[in-house]
Amino acid sequence: MTELTDITGPAAQAGPVAFPQDRTCPYHPPTGYQPLRDERPLSRITLFDGREVWAVTAHAAARALLSDPRLSSNRTHPGFPVPTERFAGIRDRRVALIGVDDPEHNRQRRMMIPSFTVKRATELRPWIQRTVDGLLDAMIAQGPPAELVSAFALPVPSMVICGLLGVPYADHEFFEEQSRRLLRGPTAADAMEARDHLERYLGELIDDKARQTEPGDGILDELVHGRLRDGGPDRAELVSLAVILLVAGHETTANMISLGTYTLLQHPGRLAELRADPALLPEAVEELMRMLSIAEGLQRVALEDIDVDGTTIRAGEGVLFSTSVINRDPARYEDPDTLDFHRSARHHVAFGFGIHQCLGQNLARAELEIALGTLLARLPGLRLAVPADEVRFKRGDTIQGMLELPVTW
Ligand code: HEM
Repeated sequence: MTELTDITGPAAQAGPVAFPQDRTCPYHPPTGYQPLRDERPLSRITLFDGREVWAVTAHAAARALLSDPRLSSNRTHPGFPVPTERFAGIRDRRVALIGVDDPEHNRQRRMMIPSFTVKRATELRPWIQRTVDGLLDAMIAQGPPAELVSAFALPVPSMVICGLLGVPYADHEFFEEQSRRLLRGPTAADAMEARDHLERYLGELIDDKARQTEPGDGILDELVHGRLRDGGPDRAELVSLAVILLVAGHETTANMISLGTYTLLQHPGRLAELRADPALLPEAVEELMRMLSIAEGLQRVALEDIDVDGTTIRAGEGVLFSTSVINRDPARYEDPDTLDFHRSARHHVAFGFGIHQCLGQNLARAELEIALGTLLARLPGLRLAVPADEVRFKRGDTIQGMLELPVTW
């Protein structure tokens, strides 16, 4: 599973590459993306519905275009590139932050920024550490072996985002299941229904909070009571913000913990290096973010003609950013397929770039450092409990990760 032949095989594709494709190895881009790696900064790709759009594949072009206001995140634009069939039904829904352009985006982002600063993430570290310790205590008491996704990788970010937002963790099975259906449900109808369930649940929670005279200390409590006081976002906007924060706040980080652990276990040299020098953790997390690029295919539509190195993206055309290919651009990263904690990977686009760059990145970094660091420190004998090629990972998805990760120690 570690061999690089997976991604350097001959590019047997004729015409535009189909996008997205399944990964063969969970931490390398799909073998079928080789033509995208050969042709930078732009390639043509075909989506599930046969539509042809642009893929951005070079690091410098990606950072320039992700900061370019001529590219829009508006999902209701007819040219917006919907990457999979299951997202087709959601395009007419109001999606806060990630689905709106400035000035609306800026207004929403400014409401959220104080809760997601580096300083705030640093203040949260002792609480995140206690959460991680508690989950590991329980896992160790019951094992070995253990299934790391359900025992650790999913509950860490799920508990953290619940605590931050003021959502009861007791409801986690419900909202984790709806998030899973929203992102990976079998059909567009299923994804829509999951979104309806989430909106109803969070709407009722917001109404409950609005009825309380003394606000609780979650972000949703602050938003609800701030709104009542200062005339902030309306209820529909609050619900939309709550959905994106809850879903983005646990799914992505859970996948990074599970796939990050798997990748380290597949690179024993790097694992030993990290164990010997835990001060490498922040750089290791950045390098894992770059290498794994779990959020694939960021979507935009051009509002005007845009010239990219002599090629014109026409107004109305769809543009997808292949983060896995961009983060392996040899013009930016030497020997890009190698996991190297000393390369200073920080400028990767795994958290996006520009105005939509991940709001939760400081929180995610803190969670990943604490979760991975504590897991390795407390379980020096950690290893897979089954052969590596039997571990099931996510397919047919724009977010990568492990479906399960059987481990022992
Ligand atoms: C390792 C974990 C994570 C990864 C890989 C990740 C990835 C991303 C990416 C690539 C984007 C940009 C999307 C685009 O430009 O279209 C994004 C945006 C966003 N992320 Fe994350 N994310 C992670 C964790 C989190 C967490 C913990 C939160 C918690 C609240 C969060 C909340 C958001 C929000 C609200 C946006 C939209 C920001 C905007 O449009 O202004 N993410 N994330």
